[in-house]
Amino acid sequence: MAALVICLCFLLGVIPVGAGTQVCESCPGALRNSSQVSQLCRAAPKARTLGRCCLGHMDGSDVIIGLDLWNCSLAQLDPTLHLTQAAVVLDLSSNPLRDLPSEFFRGLLGLQYVALPAELSCPGGNNSWENVNVTSAVRVCQDQRSSCNSTSEWVLCPENSVCAPDGPGYMQCVCAPGFHGYKCLRESTFPILMFFGILGLVTACLSVLLWCTQRRKVKSQ
Ligand SMILES: *[C@@H]1O[C@H](CO)[C@@H](O)[C@H](O)[C@H]1NC(C)=O
Ligand SMILES: *[C@@H]1O[C@H](CO)[C@@H](O)[C@H](O)[C@H]1NC(C)=O
Ligand SMILES: *[C@@H]1O[C@H](CO)[C@@H](O)[C@H](O)[C@H]1NC(C)=O
Ligand SMILES: *[C@@H]1O[C@H](CO)[C@@H](O)[C@H](O)[C@H]1NC(C)=O
Repeated sequence: MAALVICLCFLLGVIPVGAGTQVCESCPGALRNSSQVSQLCRAAPKARTLGRCCLGHMDGSDVIIGLDLWNCSLAQLDPTLHLTQAAVVLDLSSNPLRDLPSEFFRGLLGLQYVALPAELSCPGGNNSWENVNVTSAVRVCQDQRSSCNSTSEWVLCPENSVCAPDGPGYMQCVCAPGFHGYKCLRESTFPILMFFGILGLVTACLSVLLWCTQRRKVKSQ
């Protein structure tokens, strides 16, 4: 019985299924004191370190705000690793990485510091960052730029929608204020009051009608 309840809870998402913090302990060696992740954790008020991570707290659960997988012998990133927009620092330097999973950076709006093996380019390209520095082994991409503002990739969103950033090199068109629905074609002045007013009136009429007819039936029997 208890197993069933727990199972149901998982299915309904009541118990968050490990928010991906297992990556923090996937790597031998402690977090370097000089790491940007250590520095982030010293500066962020309620953050704590766990293995190679700096964890913050959000909506009652831990989220990774910094991840340092430096010198981890990684040939590829775990494809199930999903960071959230709470992530600020990511260090993947000194790893034999050949590439990164496509779409890995989509939605990572909070990233401000990414360190990569020098052979890899910055996520979204140089234009997605204010500062790009390359030393012999490490490429550092710092201060994310909005993709909606780069003159080279000036994108026009369809009517009634506006461009919104969605991580380095990514953008999305979201409905402009006052619009919603498919292709933002609906105006938001949804007449809630009228809708529920009419719905209520119809329900009331039907109830009265049913009540009357049922009563008549009862009487005639
Ligand atoms: C880490 O470095 C800071 C300064 O950057 C220093 O104050 C602190 O004592 C160091 N901690 C350890 C454990 O080395
Ligand atoms: C990098 O990792 C390897 C293997 O885990 C270890 O032998 C080496 O000492 C590490 N390098 C540094 C500079 O810590
Ligand atoms: C990106 O910036 C780095 C450092 O400024 C530079 O070495 C590299 O050539 C640039 N890449 C592109 C594609 O412009
Ligand atoms: C867009 O770019 C201009 C000029 O580079 C800059 O002044 C402005 O702050 C940027 N706006 C945003 C939202 O990034």
